[in-house]
Amino acid sequence: MRLRDRVAIVTGAARGLGRAIVLAYVREGAAVLAADIDAGAAENTARLAREAGGQSTAMQVDVSDAVSVDEIVRHAVDEWGRLDIMVAAAGIQVIEPLLETTAATWERMYAVNTLGVLYCVQAAGRVMLSRGSGRIITVTSAAARMAVPNFTAYAASKAGVECITRAAAAELAPHGLRVNSISPGRMLTDMTTVLETGLAALAGETTEEREPARIAQIPVRRKAAPEEVAAVAVWLASDEAEYINGCRLNATGGLEMD
Ligand SMILES: NC(=O)c1ccc[n+]([C@@H]2O[C@H](COP(=O)([O-])OP(=O)(O)OC[C@H]3O[C@@H](n4cnc5c(N)ncnc54)[C@H](O)[C@@H]3O)[C@@H](O)[C@H]2O)c1
Repeated sequence: MRLRDRVAIVTGAARGLGRAIVLAYVREGAAVLAADIDAGAAENTARLAREAGGQSTAMQVDVSDAVSVDEIVRHAVDEWGRLDIMVAAAGIQVIEPLLETTAATWERMYAVNTLGVLYCVQAAGRVMLSRGSGRIITVTSAAARMAVPNFTAYAASKAGVECITRAAAAELAPHGLRVNSISPGRMLTDMTTVLETGLAALAGETTEEREPARIAQIPVRRKAAPEEVAAVAVWLASDEAEYINGCRLNATGGLEMD
């Protein structure tokens, strides 16, 4: 139990990577607040965590709203007395040709993916600073460093996450915090299903036709189960990663190696 008695918040906890991290954290002994804009599905995650013998409650959050993010941090501290780990995994994507990308798309992407992470870092950072310890884990993407057509706004929003992560790592580590990011490649989640469908539609192909070439781009020759990436989030939150700070942990199977 590498996270025994730790208190964690995971955003994006309703499905995909966030849900896998909640379940992995409770298995390692943490109490976890499962936060998502989809309150019903977040509650389902928390129920699964409790059925597995862990401590978990769910709460709705809109990470693009700083007040909403402050509320989940306050809730976790009220319920469990402290906050040790914040995982900012909530995210959205848009598939849109570059020449058609609108300011509205760009602003929404930044509001959720970039400002949403900043708010999580700030809200968690404030309470962690007062105890002189804490782990913050953000989620970036291989897309931030690859040249992916039709994905400009998403890629740029994740590049912002990487800048926030490095800046926070530099500012907060002297006060006992550690801030790192995980960079997944292609995970078997709803987001990837929507991505593959959207990219295939733009190319005038089916997802089945495109899949062999998509897999061939990944040196390990398969997509990742979210549980495999959640295992990275467990390690980054554990005592074993005490000296890891400002790291972008690549969990892409080698899809991107920058
Ligand atoms: N799927 C991939 O292959 C992949 C690759 C690289 C990075 N990522 C990143 O990993 C993270 C998780 O991705 P996933 O595949 O599990 O996605 P997903 O779409 O399966 O889950 C994302 C979750 O975020 C929640 N969410 C969206 N907007 C929100 C908001 N404003 N406030 C709170 N919650 C909100 C959604 O309700 C959903 O439950 C995201 O940050 C994503 O950008 C995913």
